[in-house]
Amino acid sequence: MSEPLLIARDLRRSFASGGRHVAALDGVSLTIASGETLGLVGVSGCGKSTLARVLTRLVTPESGDITFMGNDWLALGGGRLRAARRHMQMVFQDPLAAFNPRATVGGVIADALRIHAVVPGATRAAEVARLIDRVGLPSDLVRRSIRDISGGQRQRVAIARAVAVRPRLIILDEAVSALDVSVRGRILELLIDLQRETGVGYLFVSHDLAVVRAVSHRIAVMDAGRIVEEGLAAGVLAAPASDVLVRLIGAVPRLKGKPHA
Ligand SMILES: Nc1ncnc2c1ncn2[C@@H]1O[C@H](COP(=O)(O)OP(=O)(O)O)[C@@H](O)[C@H]1O
Ligand SMILES: [Mg+2]
Repeated sequence: MSEPLLIARDLRRSFASGGRHVAALDGVSLTIASGETLGLVGVSGCGKSTLARVLTRLVTPESGDITFMGNDWLALGGGRLRAARRHMQMVFQDPLAAFNPRATVGGVIADALRIHAVVPGATRAAEVARLIDRVGLPSDLVRRSIRDISGGQRQRVAIARAVAVRPRLIILDEAVSALDVSVRGRILELLIDLQRETGVGYLFVSHDLAVVRAVSHRIAVMDAGRIVEEGLAAGVLAAPASDVLVRLIGAVPRLKGKPHA
């Protein structure tokens, strides 16, 4: 078997806030393979976003190590880091915070293509149009400003921008949590289709077990900075071993539908 795309070992990160010491990551290890979706669930405050931020190097861990595409990810710097960043993209819950609101939809995607020299300049506009179509947005959105489109449209633009650079891994932190159910369903289908086409891996972070269940091959359950349970989605959900997962399952209305193969 080939080496996983991402291997994280014993990540630790704490915060001091209001005189309290919080171990947001208390020794977290995980792997993600190409073409695989690892769902990460847990109640609010258990450390999911800290883990997402440590993996994308927005937050520095106190200890632990990360291997990404065979490289010592935490040791990379300079030009090699900039080049490697292309391959790990992140989509947040609130894409407005991640964009310049005055930028246009087309501008946001074109910038990503230009920065990473994904396609020759002469074909960039055509690639922007293709990506906008790929995420199910109307072509005339290209000239609209980020500020003037809906939350669901903005989240599609965020996904188009992430996908534009043809990354190996996309980390989605509550990326569909703010969307209404029908828009959410379409975005989840899109993510699954893109994975089948490109073999991209996903870390899919959500407090919502129903959403995680719909997309994940494997599921990891976090509680107070630790992964307390992990395994193939069907097995973990059929026989939850941790109190947290039992409670999360109890909170979800019975759902039909099964994770994709
Ligand atoms: N920048 C920060 N400063 C202080 N405390 C933080 C910071 N980021 C996260 N925390 C704390 O770390 C814990 C985990 O937070 P977070 O990773 O956001 O959890 P989740 O995404 O699961 O809701 C919480 O107690 C939170 O208050
Ligand atoms: Mg969070």
